[in-house]
Amino acid sequence: KIVPVIMAGGKGTRLWPLSRAAAAKQFIRFLGDETLLQKTLSRVSDASLYDAPMVVTNEEFRFLVAEQAREMDVKLDGIILEPVARNTAAAVAAAALMVRESHGSDALVQILPSDHEIEVDETYRDCVKRAAKAARGGKIVTFGITPTEPSTGYGYIETGMDLGDGVYTVARFVEKPNADVAQEMLDSGRYSWNSGMFVFSAGQMISELEALAPDVLTAVQKSIETAKGDLDFTRLDAESFARAPSISIDYAVMEKTPNAAVVPSPITWSDLGSWDAIWKLAGGDEDGNVVDGNATLNDTKNSLVMSRHAHLAVQGMEGVAVIASEDAVYVGRLDRSQDVGNLVKMLAADE
Ligand code: GDD
Ligand code: MG
Repeated sequence: KIVPVIMAGGKGTRLWPLSRAAAAKQFIRFLGDETLLQKTLSRVSDASLYDAPMVVTNEEFRFLVAEQAREMDVKLDGIILEPVARNTAAAVAAAALMVRESHGSDALVQILPSDHEIEVDETYRDCVKRAAKAARGGKIVTFGITPTEPSTGYGYIETGMDLGDGVYTVARFVEKPNADVAQEMLDSGRYSWNSGMFVFSAGQMISELEALAPDVLTAVQKSIETAKGDLDFTRLDAESFARAPSISIDYAVMEKTPNAAVVPSPITWSDLGSWDAIWKLAGGDEDGNVVDGNATLNDTKNSLVMSRHAHLAVQGMEGVAVIASEDAVYVGRLDRSQDVGNLVKMLAADE
């Protein structure tokens, strides 16, 4: 069986104003009844494949995680709390070390982001099983998604040698390329997108970190040695953890390791990182509009209109996002959705 480890410490600023510092996107319901974290918990509920899940998150989100798991009747294997955000390399290091302690060095781990929509069907299960087999052989396994556009928000994986059983070596891993490079990689037809999920044995990931990101590993190891545990929470020691460099697992390990493998995965996958992604996933009515909450639209097309409180009236618009939370409103073109994070930085500076 695989120990699922859910990464739930990100800020999700591109989905402002629904995603906020106090409740990041993974804890929010966008469309449907469950929050993104809850959807991720459902994804790993298959007991024939998975052990109980662990969650790695920021100290300030501890109640949201515990409460949302309780609502789903999910018994977590533990919640690892980061005193400060140090990006995903440190979070993955903490998870690998904790799993080695509780389940042994050979135990398999699957890292899952909590900001995705993925359909769990036979195809998904089949890909996970192939990944698990390769991970037992010492690979750090990624899931390759067929790219549809030259997105600069993803990691790109160049398929290498055929290892059999639907698994390939990774010839090259390029995290978040610039637009020109992304276009070249898309045109070449040799690359897939990194899904953001990884499967590996706890011991293998620890060796990778030892070789490629020793500062991260040392700081996190110390923070676990002096961690304080109460109930389901493990509070990593603040002083040691803060010494870990802030870097994502993609840059720290995936771009550098010779042991990366990829399972080309024809799964239904969507990264819900920005407003245009949510609009696309939701589908839209005959005018291409997605409306959620209190809103009246006139002569408006291909737009996303969401309100949590005020009644919105939108007229004569095309291709826009109008998003109203309880206390803030965002209006912008859907094709500028990737830039919302920068706008939020300006907002923070104005406050
Ligand atoms: N615990 C913890 N601590 N979790 C974190 C932290 C942190 O400091 N930072 C981010 N996360 C969580 C996020 O909540 C998310 O679930 C996951 O880790 C991935 O982080 P993102 O910030 O969303 O990464 P990304 O989307 O830019 O890029 C990653 O995902 C892409 C696919 O969606 C990369 O793996 C790309 O290569 C990949 O294509
Ligand atoms: Mg993401």
